[in-house]
Amino acid sequence: MATTAAPTRVLVTGGAGFIGTHTVRLLLQARSRVMVIDDLRHPCGEPVPKEVELVVADMASPQAIAAMVKFRPEAVIHLAAQGGVSRSLRDPASDALNNVVGTVAVLRGAVDAGRPSIVFASSGGAIYGRARRLPSREGDHAQPLAPYGAAKLAGEGYLGMFHRTFGLHFTAMRYGNVYGPYQDGTGEAGMVAISCQRLLDGLPPRVTGDGAQTRDFVFVEDVARANLLAIARPLNGPVNIGTGRGTSINDIAKTLIRLAGHTGESEPVPARPGEVRANFLNPGRASSKLGWAAEVGIEDGLRQTLDSFRARAAAGGPMGPVPN
Ligand SMILES: NC(=O)c1ccc[n+]([C@@H]2O[C@H](COP(=O)([O-])OP(=O)(O)OC[C@H]3O[C@@H](n4cnc5c(N)ncnc54)[C@H](O)[C@@H]3O)[C@@H](O)[C@H]2O)c1
Repeated sequence: MATTAAPTRVLVTGGAGFIGTHTVRLLLQARSRVMVIDDLRHPCGEPVPKEVELVVADMASPQAIAAMVKFRPEAVIHLAAQGGVSRSLRDPASDALNNVVGTVAVLRGAVDAGRPSIVFASSGGAIYGRARRLPSREGDHAQPLAPYGAAKLAGEGYLGMFHRTFGLHFTAMRYGNVYGPYQDGTGEAGMVAISCQRLLDGLPPRVTGDGAQTRDFVFVEDVARANLLAIARPLNGPVNIGTGRGTSINDIAKTLIRLAGHTGESEPVPARPGEVRANFLNPGRASSKLGWAAEVGIEDGLRQTLDSFRARAAAGGPMGPVPN
Protein backbone atom coordinates (compact mmCIF):
# COMPACT_ATOMS: atom_id res chain seq x y z
CA MET A 1 0.00 0.00 0.00
CA ALA A 2 1.35 3.45 -0.91
CA THR A 3 1.71 5.74 2.07
CA THR A 4 0.05 9.13 2.21
CA ALA A 5 1.71 12.27 3.45
CA ALA A 6 -1.41 14.31 4.04
CA PRO A 7 -0.98 18.07 4.41
CA THR A 8 -1.96 19.66 7.66
CA ARG A 9 -4.91 21.77 6.49
CA VAL A 10 -7.48 20.23 4.19
CA LEU A 11 -10.90 21.52 3.18
CA VAL A 12 -13.41 18.86 2.16
CA THR A 13 -16.52 20.13 0.37
CA GLY A 14 -19.37 17.64 0.71
CA GLY A 15 -17.52 16.13 3.67
CA ALA A 16 -20.75 15.03 5.38
CA GLY A 17 -21.64 12.79 2.43
CA PHE A 18 -20.79 9.19 1.67
CA ILE A 19 -17.29 9.48 0.14
CA GLY A 20 -16.60 12.59 2.22
CA THR A 21 -17.17 10.79 5.53
CA HIS A 22 -14.60 8.11 4.67
CA THR A 23 -12.15 10.69 3.32
CA VAL A 24 -12.44 12.88 6.42
CA ARG A 25 -11.80 9.85 8.67
CA LEU A 26 -8.61 9.03 6.77
CA LEU A 27 -7.46 12.66 6.93
CA LEU A 28 -7.97 12.75 10.69
CA GLN A 29 -6.03 9.48 11.03
CA ALA A 30 -3.21 11.18 9.09
CA ARG A 31 -3.45 14.06 11.59
CA SER A 32 -4.63 16.67 9.13
CA ARG A 33 -6.63 19.65 10.31
CA VAL A 34 -9.93 19.40 8.47
CA MET A 35 -12.65 21.87 7.53
CA VAL A 36 -15.88 20.57 5.97
CA ILE A 37 -18.21 22.77 3.93
CA ASP A 38 -21.54 21.02 3.43
CA ASP A 39 -25.06 22.38 3.30
CA LEU A 40 -26.35 19.01 4.57
CA ARG A 41 -28.78 18.53 1.69
CA HIS A 42 -27.69 14.89 1.47
CA PRO A 43 -25.58 13.87 4.49
CA CYS A 44 -24.79 10.17 4.88
CA GLY A 45 -26.10 9.97 8.43
CA GLU A 46 -22.75 9.54 10.21
CA PRO A 47 -21.95 12.46 12.50
CA VAL A 48 -19.18 14.80 11.32
CA PRO A 49 -16.33 14.18 13.83
CA LYS A 50 -16.06 16.86 16.52
CA GLU A 51 -12.42 17.63 15.58
CA VAL A 52 -13.66 18.90 12.21
CA GLU A 53 -14.55 22.55 11.68
CA LEU A 54 -17.99 22.22 10.02
CA VAL A 55 -19.36 25.10 7.96
CA VAL A 56 -23.00 24.44 7.08
CA ALA A 57 -23.42 26.44 3.89
CA ASP A 58 -23.84 26.12 0.15
CA MET A 59 -20.35 25.80 -1.31
CA ALA A 60 -20.99 28.73 -3.67
CA SER A 61 -22.23 31.07 -0.91
CA PRO A 62 -20.21 34.06 0.32
CA GLN A 63 -20.17 32.42 3.78
CA ALA A 64 -18.50 29.27 2.41
CA ILE A 65 -15.98 31.16 0.30
CA ALA A 66 -15.09 33.46 3.22
CA ALA A 67 -14.57 30.41 5.47
CA MET A 68 -12.30 28.84 2.85
CA VAL A 69 -10.23 31.99 2.44
CA LYS A 70 -9.86 32.32 6.22
CA PHE A 71 -8.90 28.64 6.64
CA ARG A 72 -6.20 28.86 3.92
CA PRO A 73 -6.15 25.12 3.15
CA GLU A 74 -3.15 23.46 1.54
CA ALA A 75 -5.56 21.21 -0.32
CA VAL A 76 -9.26 21.15 -1.20
CA ILE A 77 -10.97 17.81 -1.79
CA HIS A 78 -14.00 18.96 -3.73
CA LEU A 79 -16.73 16.35 -3.38
CA ALA A 80 -19.87 18.47 -2.98
CA ALA A 81 -22.24 17.77 -5.85
CA GLN A 82 -25.81 16.84 -6.56
CA GLY A 83 -25.66 13.16 -7.47
CA GLY A 84 -27.93 11.13 -9.66
CA VAL A 85 -27.84 10.61 -13.39
CA SER A 86 -31.65 10.24 -13.57
CA ARG A 87 -32.24 13.41 -11.59
CA SER A 88 -29.85 15.31 -13.86
CA LEU A 89 -31.83 14.16 -16.89
CA ARG A 90 -35.07 15.37 -15.27
CA ASP A 91 -33.60 18.74 -14.28
CA PRO A 92 -30.36 19.54 -16.12
CA ALA A 93 -30.40 23.22 -15.16
CA SER A 94 -30.43 22.51 -11.43
CA ASP A 95 -27.67 19.91 -11.94
CA ALA A 96 -25.53 22.47 -13.79
CA LEU A 97 -26.22 25.18 -11.24
CA ASN A 98 -24.91 23.07 -8.38
CA ASN A 99 -22.29 20.97 -10.12
CA VAL A 100 -20.84 23.43 -12.66
CA VAL A 101 -21.48 26.88 -11.16
CA GLY A 102 -20.80 25.58 -7.64
CA THR A 103 -17.49 24.11 -8.77
CA VAL A 104 -16.45 27.35 -10.48
CA ALA A 105 -17.23 29.26 -7.25
CA VAL A 106 -15.08 26.82 -5.24
CA LEU A 107 -12.19 27.18 -7.72
CA ARG A 108 -12.42 30.98 -7.69
CA GLY A 109 -12.43 30.90 -3.89
CA ALA A 110 -9.40 28.60 -3.92
CA VAL A 111 -7.40 31.22 -5.85
CA ASP A 112 -8.19 33.77 -3.13
CA ALA A 113 -7.41 31.17 -0.44
CA GLY A 114 -3.78 30.85 -1.56
CA ARG A 115 -4.00 28.32 -4.43
CA PRO A 116 -4.34 25.00 -2.57
CA SER A 117 -4.11 21.85 -4.70
CA ILE A 118 -7.54 20.60 -5.78
CA VAL A 119 -8.75 16.99 -5.76
CA PHE A 120 -11.95 16.99 -7.82
CA ALA A 121 -14.58 14.24 -7.72
CA SER A 122 -15.15 13.54 -11.40
CA SER A 123 -16.75 10.36 -12.71
CA GLY A 124 -15.33 7.52 -14.77
CA GLY A 125 -18.80 6.01 -14.81
CA ALA A 126 -20.47 9.04 -16.38
CA ILE A 127 -17.81 10.73 -18.50
CA TYR A 128 -16.91 8.11 -21.11
CA GLY A 129 -20.42 7.32 -22.35
CA ARG A 130 -20.55 4.42 -24.82
CA ALA A 131 -16.87 3.57 -24.69
CA ARG A 132 -15.28 2.46 -27.97
CA ARG A 133 -12.78 0.31 -26.08
CA LEU A 134 -12.66 -1.18 -22.61
CA PRO A 135 -11.29 -0.67 -20.08
CA SER A 136 -11.51 3.10 -20.67
CA ARG A 137 -8.33 5.16 -20.49
CA GLU A 138 -8.04 8.82 -19.55
CA GLY A 139 -7.07 9.77 -23.11
CA ASP A 140 -10.22 8.21 -24.60
CA HIS A 141 -12.84 10.51 -26.00
CA ALA A 142 -15.23 11.65 -23.24
CA GLN A 143 -18.81 11.53 -24.51
CA PRO A 144 -21.16 11.81 -21.51
CA LEU A 145 -24.76 10.75 -22.05
CA ALA A 146 -26.33 12.65 -19.15
CA PRO A 147 -26.14 16.21 -17.78
CA TYR A 148 -24.44 14.82 -14.65
CA GLY A 149 -21.49 13.54 -16.75
CA ALA A 150 -21.44 16.69 -18.87
CA ALA A 151 -21.15 18.72 -15.66
CA LYS A 152 -18.20 16.60 -14.50
CA LEU A 153 -16.52 17.14 -17.87
CA ALA A 154 -17.20 20.88 -17.60
CA GLY A 155 -15.65 20.83 -14.12
CA GLU A 156 -12.52 19.20 -15.58
CA GLY A 157 -12.48 21.90 -18.27
CA TYR A 158 -12.62 24.67 -15.66
CA LEU A 159 -9.87 22.97 -13.65
CA GLY A 160 -7.62 23.01 -16.72
CA MET A 161 -8.36 26.71 -17.25
CA PHE A 162 -7.74 27.58 -13.57
CA HIS A 163 -4.45 25.67 -13.82
CA ARG A 164 -3.30 27.53 -16.94
CA THR A 165 -4.53 30.98 -15.96
CA PHE A 166 -4.38 31.05 -12.15
CA GLY A 167 -1.76 28.40 -11.37
CA LEU A 168 -4.08 26.03 -9.45
CA HIS A 169 -2.80 22.45 -9.37
CA PHE A 170 -5.38 19.68 -9.49
CA THR A 171 -6.27 16.07 -10.07
CA ALA A 172 -9.62 15.04 -11.57
CA MET A 173 -10.56 11.73 -9.98
CA ARG A 174 -12.64 9.69 -12.41
CA TYR A 175 -14.16 7.29 -9.88
CA GLY A 176 -15.92 4.13 -10.97
CA ASN A 177 -19.14 3.06 -9.21
CA VAL A 178 -18.23 3.76 -5.59
CA TYR A 179 -19.94 1.55 -3.00
CA GLY A 180 -19.54 0.82 0.69
CA PRO A 181 -20.80 1.62 4.18
CA TYR A 182 -22.94 4.78 4.65
CA GLN A 183 -24.05 5.07 1.03
CA ASP A 184 -27.68 6.11 0.69
CA GLY A 185 -29.84 3.02 0.21
CA THR A 186 -33.05 5.01 -0.08
CA GLY A 187 -32.40 6.98 -3.28
CA GLU A 188 -32.38 6.09 -6.94
CA ALA A 189 -28.60 5.84 -7.42
CA GLY A 190 -26.17 3.37 -5.85
CA MET A 191 -27.21 -0.14 -6.79
CA VAL A 192 -25.27 -1.84 -3.98
CA ALA A 193 -26.69 0.36 -1.21
CA ILE A 194 -30.24 0.15 -2.58
CA SER A 195 -29.94 -3.65 -2.80
CA CYS A 196 -28.60 -3.91 0.76
CA GLN A 197 -31.50 -1.80 2.01
CA ARG A 198 -34.02 -3.91 0.09
CA LEU A 199 -32.55 -7.18 1.41
CA LEU A 200 -32.76 -5.87 4.98
CA ASP A 201 -36.40 -4.99 4.28
CA GLY A 202 -36.96 -8.58 3.08
CA LEU A 203 -37.15 -7.56 -0.58
CA PRO A 204 -35.02 -8.91 -3.45
CA PRO A 205 -32.51 -6.64 -5.24
CA ARG A 206 -33.83 -5.07 -8.43
CA VAL A 207 -31.98 -5.75 -11.68
CA THR A 208 -32.61 -3.55 -14.71
CA GLY A 209 -32.90 -5.17 -18.14
CA ASP A 210 -31.07 -8.48 -18.51
CA GLY A 211 -28.60 -7.54 -15.73
CA ALA A 212 -25.59 -8.34 -17.92
CA GLN A 213 -24.48 -4.70 -18.01
CA THR A 214 -21.14 -4.22 -16.27
CA ARG A 215 -19.77 -1.51 -14.00
CA ASP A 216 -16.46 -0.89 -12.24
CA PHE A 217 -17.40 -1.25 -8.56
CA VAL A 218 -14.74 0.32 -6.35
CA PHE A 219 -14.84 0.24 -2.55
CA VAL A 220 -15.18 3.59 -0.80
CA GLU A 221 -12.15 3.13 1.47
CA ASP A 222 -9.97 2.59 -1.60
CA VAL A 223 -11.42 5.80 -3.06
CA ALA A 224 -10.73 7.77 0.14
CA ARG A 225 -7.11 6.54 0.06
CA ALA A 226 -6.79 7.66 -3.57
CA ASN A 227 -8.07 11.13 -2.58
CA LEU A 228 -5.29 11.51 -0.03
CA LEU A 229 -2.62 10.27 -2.43
CA ALA A 230 -3.76 12.77 -5.07
CA ILE A 231 -3.25 15.71 -2.68
CA ALA A 232 0.48 15.11 -2.58
CA ARG A 233 0.90 14.46 -6.31
CA PRO A 234 -1.36 16.68 -8.42
CA LEU A 235 -1.44 15.41 -12.00
CA ASN A 236 -3.10 18.48 -13.56
CA GLY A 237 -5.33 16.10 -15.48
CA PRO A 238 -7.70 13.16 -15.03
CA VAL A 239 -7.00 9.79 -13.43
CA ASN A 240 -9.23 6.71 -13.38
CA ILE A 241 -9.98 5.34 -9.93
CA GLY A 242 -11.34 1.89 -10.59
CA THR A 243 -10.47 -1.79 -10.40
CA GLY A 244 -10.01 -2.47 -14.13
CA ARG A 245 -12.74 -5.11 -13.90
CA GLY A 246 -16.33 -4.99 -15.01
CA THR A 247 -18.80 -6.76 -12.71
CA SER A 248 -22.31 -7.41 -13.94
CA ILE A 249 -25.35 -6.16 -12.08
CA ASN A 250 -26.54 -9.79 -12.00
CA ASP A 251 -23.36 -10.88 -10.22
CA ILE A 252 -23.70 -8.10 -7.63
CA ALA A 253 -27.33 -9.06 -6.95
CA LYS A 254 -26.52 -12.79 -6.69
CA THR A 255 -23.58 -12.21 -4.34
CA LEU A 256 -25.63 -9.93 -2.07
CA ILE A 257 -28.52 -12.41 -1.99
CA ARG A 258 -26.08 -15.16 -0.93
CA LEU A 259 -24.29 -12.99 1.65
CA ALA A 260 -27.62 -11.89 3.12
CA GLY A 261 -28.69 -15.52 3.48
CA HIS A 262 -31.78 -14.95 1.37
CA THR A 263 -33.24 -17.45 -1.01
CA GLY A 264 -34.82 -16.55 -4.29
CA GLU A 265 -34.01 -14.45 -7.29
CA SER A 266 -33.58 -10.77 -7.98
CA GLU A 267 -36.56 -8.79 -9.28
CA PRO A 268 -36.27 -7.82 -12.96
CA VAL A 269 -37.30 -4.27 -13.90
CA PRO A 270 -37.32 -2.71 -17.38
CA ALA A 271 -34.01 -1.51 -18.80
CA ARG A 272 -33.42 2.24 -18.63
CA PRO A 273 -33.36 3.84 -22.05
CA GLY A 274 -29.85 4.84 -23.08
CA GLU A 275 -28.18 2.88 -20.27
CA VAL A 276 -24.52 2.10 -21.01
CA ARG A 277 -23.92 -1.61 -21.59
CA ALA A 278 -20.38 -1.85 -20.28
CA ASN A 279 -18.21 0.49 -18.26
CA PHE A 280 -14.94 -0.20 -16.54
CA LEU A 281 -11.73 1.74 -16.15
CA ASN A 282 -8.06 1.18 -16.77
CA PRO A 283 -6.37 2.15 -13.48
CA GLY A 284 -2.81 2.09 -14.93
CA ARG A 285 -2.27 5.84 -14.52
CA ALA A 286 -3.39 5.75 -10.88
CA SER A 287 -0.89 2.98 -10.30
CA SER A 288 2.07 4.64 -12.03
CA LYS A 289 1.44 8.26 -10.97
CA LEU A 290 -0.25 7.94 -7.57
CA GLY A 291 0.98 4.53 -6.41
CA TRP A 292 -2.66 3.54 -6.00
CA ALA A 293 -4.47 0.30 -6.68
CA ALA A 294 -7.80 -0.97 -5.41
CA GLU A 295 -7.20 -3.33 -2.50
CA VAL A 296 -10.67 -4.46 -1.44
CA GLY A 297 -12.13 -7.23 -3.59
CA ILE A 298 -15.78 -7.17 -4.55
CA GLU A 299 -16.91 -10.03 -2.27
CA ASP A 300 -15.13 -8.53 0.75
CA GLY A 301 -16.45 -5.04 -0.05
CA LEU A 302 -20.03 -6.26 -0.47
CA ARG A 303 -19.82 -8.16 2.82
CA GLN A 304 -18.53 -5.06 4.66
CA THR A 305 -21.30 -2.97 3.11
CA LEU A 306 -24.06 -5.41 4.03
CA ASP A 307 -22.63 -5.71 7.57
CA SER A 308 -22.71 -1.93 7.97
CA PHE A 309 -26.35 -1.76 6.86
CA ARG A 310 -27.17 -4.53 9.34
CA ALA A 311 -25.30 -2.72 12.13
CA ARG A 312 -27.16 0.52 11.47
CA ALA A 313 -30.48 -1.29 11.43
CA ALA A 314 -29.63 -3.04 14.72
CA ALA A 315 -28.68 0.31 16.26
CA GLY A 316 -32.02 1.75 15.18
CA GLY A 317 -30.67 3.85 12.32
CA PRO A 318 -29.92 6.18 10.78
CA MET A 319 -30.61 4.10 7.68
CA GLY A 320 -29.76 6.79 5.23
CA PRO A 321 -29.53 10.50 4.74
CA VAL A 322 -32.38 12.91 5.02
CA PRO A 323 -33.89 12.81 1.53
CA ASN A 324 -33.26 15.96 -0.50
N1 LIG B 1 -20.81 7.61 -5.31
C1 LIG B 1 -20.33 7.36 -6.52
O1 LIG B 1 -20.43 6.26 -7.05
C2 LIG B 1 -19.61 8.45 -7.29
C3 LIG B 1 -19.02 8.13 -8.50
C4 LIG B 1 -18.35 9.12 -9.21
C5 LIG B 1 -18.29 10.41 -8.70
N2 LIG B 1 -18.89 10.70 -7.53
C6 LIG B 1 -18.79 12.07 -7.03
O2 LIG B 1 -18.17 12.05 -5.76
C7 LIG B 1 -18.68 13.12 -4.97
C8 LIG B 1 -19.20 12.59 -3.65
O3 LIG B 1 -20.24 11.65 -3.95
P1 LIG B 1 -21.03 10.91 -2.80
O4 LIG B 1 -21.47 9.62 -3.36
O5 LIG B 1 -20.29 10.97 -1.52
O6 LIG B 1 -22.33 11.85 -2.71
P2 LIG B 1 -23.16 12.32 -1.44
O7 LIG B 1 -24.44 12.87 -1.96
O8 LIG B 1 -23.22 11.25 -0.42
O9 LIG B 1 -22.26 13.51 -0.85
C9 LIG B 1 -22.27 14.79 -1.41
C10 LIG B 1 -22.27 15.79 -0.27
O10 LIG B 1 -22.23 17.10 -0.85
C11 LIG B 1 -23.16 17.93 -0.16
N3 LIG B 1 -23.55 18.98 -1.10
C12 LIG B 1 -24.18 18.85 -2.30
N4 LIG B 1 -24.34 20.05 -2.87
C13 LIG B 1 -23.79 20.97 -2.04
C14 LIG B 1 -23.63 22.38 -2.08
N5 LIG B 1 -24.09 23.11 -3.10
N6 LIG B 1 -22.99 22.99 -1.07
C15 LIG B 1 -22.54 22.29 -0.01
N7 LIG B 1 -22.66 20.94 0.10
C16 LIG B 1 -23.28 20.29 -0.91
C17 LIG B 1 -24.28 17.00 0.26
O11 LIG B 1 -24.99 17.49 1.36
C18 LIG B 1 -23.52 15.72 0.59
O12 LIG B 1 -23.16 15.68 1.96
C19 LIG B 1 -19.72 13.83 -5.82
O13 LIG B 1 -19.10 14.90 -6.49
C20 LIG B 1 -20.13 12.77 -6.81
O14 LIG B 1 -20.63 13.33 -8.01
C21 LIG B 1 -19.54 9.76 -6.80
